[in-house]
Amino acid sequence: MYMLQGKKVVLGITGSIAAYKAAYLSRALIKKGAEVQIVITPAGKEFITPVTLSALTQKPVISEFFTANDGTWHSHVDIGLWADLMLIAPATAATIGKMAHGIADNMLITTYLSMKAPVFVAPAMDLDMFAHPSTQENIDKLRSYGNIIIEPATGYLASALEGKGRMEEPDNIVKVLEDYFKKKNDLNQKKILITAGPTYEKIDPVRYISNYSSGKMGYALAEECASRGAEVILISGPVQLKAKNPKITTVQVESAEEMHRKAKEYFPETDAGILCAAVADFKPAHYAEHKMKRQPGEPMELVLIPNPDIAASLGEIKKPHQILAGFALETENGIQNAERKLKKKNLDFIVLNSLSDEGAGFQNNTNKVTIIDSGSNVIDYPLKPKKEVAEDIIDYLMNYL
Ligand code: PMT
Repeated sequence: MYMLQGKKVVLGITGSIAAYKAAYLSRALIKKGAEVQIVITPAGKEFITPVTLSALTQKPVISEFFTANDGTWHSHVDIGLWADLMLIAPATAATIGKMAHGIADNMLITTYLSMKAPVFVAPAMDLDMFAHPSTQENIDKLRSYGNIIIEPATGYLASALEGKGRMEEPDNIVKVLEDYFKKKNDLNQKKILITAGPTYEKIDPVRYISNYSSGKMGYALAEECASRGAEVILISGPVQLKAKNPKITTVQVESAEEMHRKAKEYFPETDAGILCAAVADFKPAHYAEHKMKRQPGEPMELVLIPNPDIAASLGEIKKPHQILAGFALETENGIQNAERKLKKKNLDFIVLNSLSDEGAGFQNNTNKVTIIDSGSNVIDYPLKPKKEVAEDIIDYLMNYL
């Protein structure tokens, strides 16, 4: 079945030598049943002519805000409402920078800013431009807006240098779009519980015990599930993030006890639970009503008692149709420790991330994980942006649902 059949695609083309591939890309999209509207920047037209593109798409190519000879106005707002997806391929460093900062000085950027549909971006540039911190920061910004980056390939570049910066091949880009629509509704009618972020365990009115969790991994999982059609209950410890998808209901909690209570309340009505929160294992035995005072020269002793194990509690009440997945954050003997937690908490699979892997774990925008299931299957994934890690984890969950 053609996943792009009947889909309305806005193809944005910018001023890169890879623009010549846009002709093939338009053709490939049309062959899959898509309707393609091209919006090209003035620089893009230096690399490929609108005549070629309009002949292929059978639609006038849009480049300016209005047509010079008869004054016809091209509404970027209408295009934004019309589209099922927008693909910018090739996307130059300049266009990526303008998208990241809302510099709406051409039709393509205004269309992007008005776009209601998902936006895919396929960068194309020289290797040093791509690696430059400003380009990488702009790409991270686009990711944070929910745009999907189709990473460039490594290979021979127009500059005669070799490296990462070649626009991904059109057939592979089409496959990314097809996969997106294939997965889009695969969690329809499903309800998923996700825990995210740290917990705060109060010592006194001004102090608490916690950890470095930013919530990025858990929120990425929630967004991924919601974008695939699931209704999501996100039980979140205190973080700076806000869930974007309206299918996500965020339940804010502070302590492990609160998270435990809410998780037990919501879990029975869900199809799966993914426990990504970094729950404090211990809390102070006593909460001091008033700020504890320092006694000069005296050590301070804090007695800690264990918090409830949320994963293990849900593992106990899990029904046969429910799937339960946890995370294991390790610093040593990762696989053994993760396998032990998988069994002890009655999980179906566990996602191991290790603080000994650079770019993995707390705070980073990336993670490197290994999935271990109850049948002792072990699957290693490379270091990836957390959004893509979330996609891998949900793809894995689909084997069960
Ligand atoms: O939030 P980020 O900055 O993006 O970082 C992501 C992360 C590193 C926090 C995340 O990827 C992660 O590893 N989360 C689990 C952290 C953790 O507490 O791991 P653990 O090995 O101590 O716990 C094992 C499992 O039991 C986890 O699913 C945990 O949620 C759960 N648990 C732990 C203790 C407890 N009292 N109750 C629990 O449910």
